[in-house]
Amino acid sequence: MRIREYEHYIRDLLELDDIQELRKTHAHGRRDRFVHNYAVGKLAYRLARLLNGNATIAARAGFLHDWYHGHRPERKRFSFSGSDQHHFRISHEAAANYGEHTEVLHAIRTHFWPWGRVAPKSREAWAVWMADNLVWVVDYWQSAKISLRHGYQNFMYGEVSQ
Ligand SMILES: [Fe+2]
Ligand SMILES: [Fe+2]
Repeated sequence: MRIREYEHYIRDLLELDDIQELRKTHAHGRRDRFVHNYAVGKLAYRLARLLNGNATIAARAGFLHDWYHGHRPERKRFSFSGSDQHHFRISHEAAANYGEHTEVLHAIRTHFWPWGRVAPKSREAWAVWMADNLVWVVDYWQSAKISLRHGYQNFMYGEVSQ
């Protein structure tokens, strides 16, 4: 079963308190950060397999790519004016502290390219970059559908829903 295979590669990460905290904050629209990271990791994992890349690296980098945004005040030193334009640096630092492989770190560091200036240089990093850009579109699409279904006044933002 493919989902179980993907989860096999991120099992230790799923048990981290800081990862579970992601369920409480928004990513894009009404989708929470855990759902976003999980989806990016899963798609990056599949893309890496298609591209004959390293699926473990893609799965872990995809799952950790947005580990930290500006919602953790103690990690805001890279941010300016509350912007999240440096969130890839914060997530990279957190993953490095956790002991992730350099290839995982590279994919996290470059997932926001062209922001951050460093372009993806590996198949796994490109898999994460592609997955993130596809998934955030899906996030907003799903958020719009939820809003329509429930008749929410605010089309894109509000409480986190499934
Ligand atoms: Fe990101
Ligand atoms: Fe993302």
